[in-house]
Amino acid sequence: MEKTQKKGTVKFFSGKQIPLEMHKVRIVQSLKLVPIERRKEAIAEAGYNSFLLGTKDIFLDMLTDSGTNAMSDEQLSKMMVADDAYAGSQSFVRFEKAVLDVFGKKLLLPVHQGRAAENIISQVFVKKGSVVPMNYHFTTTLAHIQLNGGKVVELYTPEAMKIKSTNPFKGNIDINRLEELIKKEGPENVPFIRMEASTNLIGGQPFSMKNFMDVRKVADKYKKIIVLDASLIGENAYFIKKREPEYFEKSIGFILNKMSELSDIVYFSGRKVSSSRGGAICTNNKDLYNKMKDLVPLYEGFLTYGGISIREIEAMAVGLYETLEEDVVGQSPSFINYAANELDKLGIPVILPGGALGCHIEAQGFLPQVPQKEYPAGALVAAFYLISGCRGMERGTISSIRDENGNDILADLELMRLAFPRRVFTLSQVEYLIDRLNWLYQNRNLVGGLRFVEEPPVLRFFTGRLEPVSNWPDKLMAKFRADFGDSL
Ligand code: F0G
Repeated sequence: MEKTQKKGTVKFFSGKQIPLEMHKVRIVQSLKLVPIERRKEAIAEAGYNSFLLGTKDIFLDMLTDSGTNAMSDEQLSKMMVADDAYAGSQSFVRFEKAVLDVFGKKLLLPVHQGRAAENIISQVFVKKGSVVPMNYHFTTTLAHIQLNGGKVVELYTPEAMKIKSTNPFKGNIDINRLEELIKKEGPENVPFIRMEASTNLIGGQPFSMKNFMDVRKVADKYKKIIVLDASLIGENAYFIKKREPEYFEKSIGFILNKMSELSDIVYFSGRKVSSSRGGAICTNNKDLYNKMKDLVPLYEGFLTYGGISIREIEAMAVGLYETLEEDVVGQSPSFINYAANELDKLGIPVILPGGALGCHIEAQGFLPQVPQKEYPAGALVAAFYLISGCRGMERGTISSIRDENGNDILADLELMRLAFPRRVFTLSQVEYLIDRLNWLYQNRNLVGGLRFVEEPPVLRFFTGRLEPVSNWPDKLMAKFRADFGDSL
């Protein structure tokens, strides 16, 4: 599936197939692994919600890559020459140039992070009765569209829900269903088509350029605009280069530019794509720009800083250029691929092929005894933290919502996401992760479910609190001690 040889790839004499890091670590932060007894207290204090853990109790923080990718020496040095000004900052001019060079878009609106872009786009384009087709939703995208009275329709292909697949582009949208939906709902009710690069919630799975070009044809036919969520576009471009034959010889820059060219509006979380903080919306269409522009000073800040620290704007500009480098955007996917394949060899249900952002463990296969209404993905995250100190994120029914009758809308997939922020972890840490997951899998029958004790009405996964349905954490801890003695 993947091109086996790339120019400059290092082969090991031993024949081992392991990713080789093309960076060296020069700034370090020490980590602590607190004993399992403390971890058990900590997860209880956190209401069995990994978002509520403090980093003092965490060994490997694999919650997210958002704002946690390692920054480069170039980024850090540019932050020191930031031009702090409320209006007219030259740092913003450099950011504009980077966006033009990387995405080919001339008109730029800065926002403090990705969801702020979603707020503005949804407020401007979505109204009551709007239907927004997309390859898959992201949590904050869905919330903003719904808040403005719109509905999201996900048009993924059947392949997207297969755990173990060899399909290289599980993030593709189903083109026939897209056209049917527009016809059924009426083009006037479809404000835009949204495509998400490296589709986050289905395991960081990319879409192909071919698929995106087909989306463009449908959009043109019905005169619809395409909004591209480019938060994970670097990795999607990397997968296109590796997996789509027409692009084997093309540069990441060429692919990024083409993806952007096919889109009317591109928005992104700078916390992800440019390994910094911040975010932005960009376009070449003056009308679209004008519709959105006035909301930036209202919600974010003046048009040349958008609520972002100017230092981070400098870091974003450099980070966008670094997104053109295969060694930067390929680092996390190659580690994820390594982890996913090793876990698969151990029989652990893991999303294949490996995608962007993180390694995704399929919780219903891992914990078949936990019914979906007892949140198997949440239970797996809590159990894995308990036995390893590694913090993952629930991406299943807890991250979903309730219907109008108050019943859980069960997620399509119950996943534990273990994020691999770019250039943060070493392979020895990945080996630890694999080892502990293997142990947990051998002892999976000890893990039980969770239930809510405090449930916020919106985005409940962030701050909701849960408890175990039985004393399973005690049993799991006892088995850990029996097997590992005094090991941390
Ligand atoms: N779109 C995608 C595809 C994302 O992954 C995210 C954030 C956002 C939009 C929102 O951006 O956080 O800067 O407001 N994803 C983070 C994650 C939170 O952990 O996956 P934001």
